[in-house]
Formats: sequence, structure tokens, C-alpha cells
Amino acid sequence: MKAIIGEPVNRVDGPAKVTGQAVYAAEFKIPNLAYAAVVSSTIPRGRISGIDAGEAERVRGVLAVIWYENAERLPYRELEQRPLVDPKSGDQLRVFQGAEILFSGQPVAVVIAETQEQADGAARMVRVTYEVEEPTTVFQLSDGKPPSEETAKGGRPGDTSRGDADGALGRAPVRIDMTCSHAREHHNAMEPHATIAEWDGDHLTLYDKSQWVDNVRMEIAHVFGTPEANIRVVSPFVGGAFGSGLRTWPHVTIAALAARHVRRPVRVELTRRECYTSIGMRPYTLQRVALGAERNGRLTSIIQEACAQTSVYEEYAETTLEPAQTTYSCPNVRTQYRLVEMNTNSPCPMRAPGTSTGTMALEMAMDELAEALGMDPLELRLRNYAERDESADLPWSSKELRACYETAAKRFGWSRRNPKSGSMRDGRSLIGWGMATAIYHAERSAAAAQAILYANGTAVVRTAASDMGPGTYTSMTQVAAETLGLPVEKVHFELGDTEMPKAPVHGGSITMASVGNGVLAACQALRGKLKELAAGHDSATFVEVLHRHGLERLEAEAEAKPGNEQKNYASAAFGAVFVEVRVDPAFGAVRVPRIVGAYDAGRIVNPKIARSQCIGGMVGGLGMALEEIAEWDERLGRVMNANLAEYLVPVNADVAELDVQFVPSNDTIFNPLGAKGLAEIALCGVAPAIASAVYHATGKRVRHLPIRPESLVE
Ligand code: MOS
Repeated sequence: MKAIIGEPVNRVDGPAKVTGQAVYAAEFKIPNLAYAAVVSSTIPRGRISGIDAGEAERVRGVLAVIWYENAERLPYRELEQRPLVDPKSGDQLRVFQGAEILFSGQPVAVVIAETQEQADGAARMVRVTYEVEEPTTVFQLSDGKPPSEETAKGGRPGDTSRGDADGALGRAPVRIDMTCSHAREHHNAMEPHATIAEWDGDHLTLYDKSQWVDNVRMEIAHVFGTPEANIRVVSPFVGGAFGSGLRTWPHVTIAALAARHVRRPVRVELTRRECYTSIGMRPYTLQRVALGAERNGRLTSIIQEACAQTSVYEEYAETTLEPAQTTYSCPNVRTQYRLVEMNTNSPCPMRAPGTSTGTMALEMAMDELAEALGMDPLELRLRNYAERDESADLPWSSKELRACYETAAKRFGWSRRNPKSGSMRDGRSLIGWGMATAIYHAERSAAAAQAILYANGTAVVRTAASDMGPGTYTSMTQVAAETLGLPVEKVHFELGDTEMPKAPVHGGSITMASVGNGVLAACQALRGKLKELAAGHDSATFVEVLHRHGLERLEAEAEAKPGNEQKNYASAAFGAVFVEVRVDPAFGAVRVPRIVGAYDAGRIVNPKIARSQCIGGMVGGLGMALEEIAEWDERLGRVMNANLAEYLVPVNADVAELDVQFVPSNDTIFNPLGAKGLAEIALCGVAPAIASAVYHATGKRVRHLPIRPESLVE
């Protein structure tokens, strides 16, 4: 059988995307489509005292204006089990069901019109008056509360501890204690969120931007009290999401509600500004890390405390403190997690949620500890290498982190680093070198797929998965093609439709380990059927076998799911990141001429696409370190730079050499395909490596990210 898994196959959906043939949620051509514009609250807390829609309703082309007084009452049926992607505590925002305002930007009305322009214009004429109440718009550490019991049970406890971290810290001959933070960040995917809703009697079709079509179906079924079987969700292409498409946001309900109201299909496409309030974001988080060590560098104590913002209506909590528990070997570890409820929209996962930011704090602290010890930062990591997951007390199913350190350090030339800060220069530029460890827990869920062989020599493989950009279409095509013994061109892979076999969420970097094995299982099942049919004619091609039996097609469906390995092993992807910065001391400008990352992500199905994942993650980390910040106005409770002009993200001119290496790895304990998942790992470690490099260059510890020129110029 020809090896296709592991080959740098070009993206199978590439031509469709670059020629505009790929159809995104807002672009479906639906006859008689009407367009919606949302009216959002301008106050962070209070009640609507009145809505005057008269002027808006008289605009030519306007079909309806809906707000809480004339909207249908929706049942919002209780879910038996909260979806994995929803906060474990609190209530999702209900649209147009009451007068209460919980944050600035909350949808208060929707205008539906014949054209988008008419809807947008009329939306500005809807007069909303409010009774204003005193909001919580200032983040105060003293307001931090431990997460609720439901949240704690869901794996986000307020307090954890092993050993006696405080005692050990007190006794440690070398210790550091630092406070750091990262900004509130927004996903800013190129494609804005959008939904087209179309009712046919009591059947609803949603064309949506989603990382999990099955979840949209389930949630909307509960919101409308409709059987799931009556709802179809279609999402073949996603123009970036980074976690913003995991949940089912209020605008999906608005689209369905509006479509039922005007008895026509309706499109809701969020504006760029609405993408800052109508979906989630990475919450601002303040952290403290205290580390204690012996003089030989062995960690004796890790204390990490995080306090994050959440909304007043949902308790969104992250895995910020997992890296403190698992990255290094240390007998005494204590973590504390607190949440501050604010009048803001709920945060949500954004690329390596919690893990990247917990890693950021831990790794920045490790750099400070290395300095306090007078030890090379890489040497410090090696002295505290975790041979097993000491938190779960389990062996790793695989761990090639040593190889990552070695590979990346060598390519970077780390051994040539002069440890003294400010010692490396090039003309007037100060050069700084920094490094960090990256870790991202690997998980796997049940996933089903269907494989169909046709007598014309082609195959179709389908599952309700998603591809927000990482290359699911391509990598799954490779798995199917190799397993079926077909060339890539003969296999057509389909995803993003609830009519297809069930797939888990396209998040948490689990798609390859989950859906990949589902596709593998379905294709193996199909081969099994073929072999039975071929009985005695083993050399026959499948086309011959189908012909002999007079079959047009042969199909099989199978599900792959995790077994006991998750009880007996801990699994994670690992990485080592090294960066160089150049700082202009007069202007405080930081450039990043190169980032070298080496990763253990298990088996790599497509090195070209895997590299793309990693350079994307590195760019995200660069943004976290140097550029990304939602400027929050504490008086208004609103993000002031809610647009792509003023919210900075790295552009081509900010990005130079990104060197991505994959160390040999194949985790067949974790799953048959051997892949651990590759996406979020690449964001982890970049920001702290840059922060440490900036310190190495300038002698200035900037602990509150992003590091901006003004932080470096006095
Ligand atoms: Mo990712 S934040 O799990 O989409």
C-alpha cells in the first residue's frame, strides 16, 4: 500500500478557496432571503425602558423590527447535559426575552429588511431608552471568587494542591515571586460569524459558521423546544474561528427567530464590531507565580494563582493552572483560580484557552528563576523534566520533549547565548534570546464516519466534522486514501453537515486523534466488506469486485472511540520554543527576526499543513506578546478598538523567519493513528519566550502583555 499519510499533500480544498468557489455561511444563495441588522445595547447594565421602532419600521424594505415586547417567547428548554463547550454554571444569554441589560453590546432588537443596506440603515433609527444601573466594569482582584461547585467538578477547581507548596517556598534557598497578565484578546477571524436560517414548516435549516454542527443542532433544538431531528445545520467552510465557533451564540437564535417571524429565510451576519460583543473572547487574566528551588535548580515549590474575568450571566473558567501541575517535576504544587464577574459578554475558548496563558505565566517565572539561580534557562527546564504526569500520577503515553529541546536549541544556536542581559548587540539594536516549554493536553472523543466506494473507482468519505483552517479536508482525505488504497484524487471527503455521521467538537486540537480514527475505522470496515466479497480473488481490484457482484457502490460506517488508555496514561503534545528579538532602545520597538519551535505532536499526517498550523500558532503567540489588546473603557464597559484597524494583530511585516520542526513521534498508545493533535500547542510558549528575550535584550522585565514600545522607553 502506498504511503499517503505523512506526505506533504497540497490542500484539497485550496483551489476552491482561492477561486471563491468555497461557500461560507453568509454566502449561501437562498431564494427570497431577507437580511437582518442587530441593534445592541449602549449601556453595560440596566433595563430597557422603552423602544420606539416606528421610524425604522417605515423605512422602505423593512419587514419587521423585533424586540422583547413583540418577540415570541422561546422555551429555552433545560439541557440534560451541558455541552462540553459551554460554561458549567450560569445561563446562556436569552435573546429578546426581557428588558434586562447585562453588558454593552447585548442585542436588544433586530431589524429585518429586503436588503442588508435597508436593515442597517433602519437599525440606526430604532430608539432605545434605558434605566441605567451601576455596572461592574473595573477588574478588581479583591472581587475574585472561587468557581462554583459545577465548574470545579467540570475540571476547573478553585484550589488544588499536592505536597506543601507554601512551606517549601518558605524553606527554598532560591525563590522568585512575580505577578503578570495578558490582555483581553479577540479571535478576529477573517470570516465574520454569520447564520442563515430557513424554516420549512417546523423544519429548520441553519447555514452557520460553526466548529461543531451537532452542537448547534442540539442547542437550537433546546432553545426552540424543537426535536433535533427537525433541525439541519450546514457548515462546509469556516474562515478561521480559533474557538469562537465552538459555542452556539445568540445570533443563531436571532436568525431562526427572525426567520419564523417574517416567514422568510433570514441572514444575520455580525459586523466586525459585533464580533467583539456577540461571541466570546480570551478573558483578561492576572496571575501570580512563586517558585522555589534548590541551588542545583531542582524545583521544590510551584505556586500559581490566576484571576480571570467572566460575565455576570455565565461562569466561564479555563485550564490556566494545568501547566503548573504537569509541566515540571515538583513535589509541592499549589494552584488557585478565581473569577471576577463583570458586565461584559461571556469569554470563551480562544486558541489554547487557559493552557497558553497559564504556560505564559509559568514560563516567564521560570526565566526569572533561571536568572536568580544563575543557570541557563534551558538547563533549568532539563533539571526539572517531568518523566511522568505528576498531577494525574500517570505515565505519559509518549513524550519526546527532550528531543524537542535538543532539536530547537541546536537549530537556534542557543549554546552561543551570552547569559548577561544587554550583552548582545548588532549596531544600535539590542539582541535578546529567550526560550520556553510548550505543553498542551491531548484528548480524544468518539467520532463516526461513513465511507462509500463507487464502481467508477472513486470514494466518498463523510463525517459531521469541521475544518476551520487546519486542513481537516486534506488530512482526512489522506487517511481515507491510504486506508482504501486509492490515490488522493479519487477520494472526496465531506464534512460540516448534521446529516453526516456524528463527530465531536472541532476544538481542543482533538480532530486528528478523534475524527482521524473514525475515518480510519470506517475505511477499514469498508475494506473488510470488500475482502469478504472478494473471497478467493484477493488480487482483484475493488472495481472488479464491485462489478463482479453487480454493485454500484459499497459502503460502511464505523465509530472510533477512546478506550482504557485514558485511565492508564496521560497524553499531551509538547514543544520547545526559542526566539530572538531585536529591540531599538530609542523607540522601544521590538522585532522578532526568528522563532524556532520543535514539537512532539505524535504522528504527523501532513507535514506541510502541520507546519502551517505551527506558523499560525507562532504568529498568534507573537500577537499575544507584542500586539493584541482589547482597550477596555472602564467608564463605558466597552472595547474601544473593536475593529481590525485599531486592534493590532501581526501582519506580514511583523513576521520573519518561523522555523518549525517535528521530532519523530508516534503515539499508538493514545490512538491507532498515532497523532496527538497539533494546533494549540504552537501558540503555547511563544509569548513567554518573547518576553524573556526582551528581558535578555534590555534588562527590563515587562510582565504585563502585550509589551509595547512605551513599556521599554522611559
Ligand atoms: Mo480551539 S480554542 O479548541 O477552537
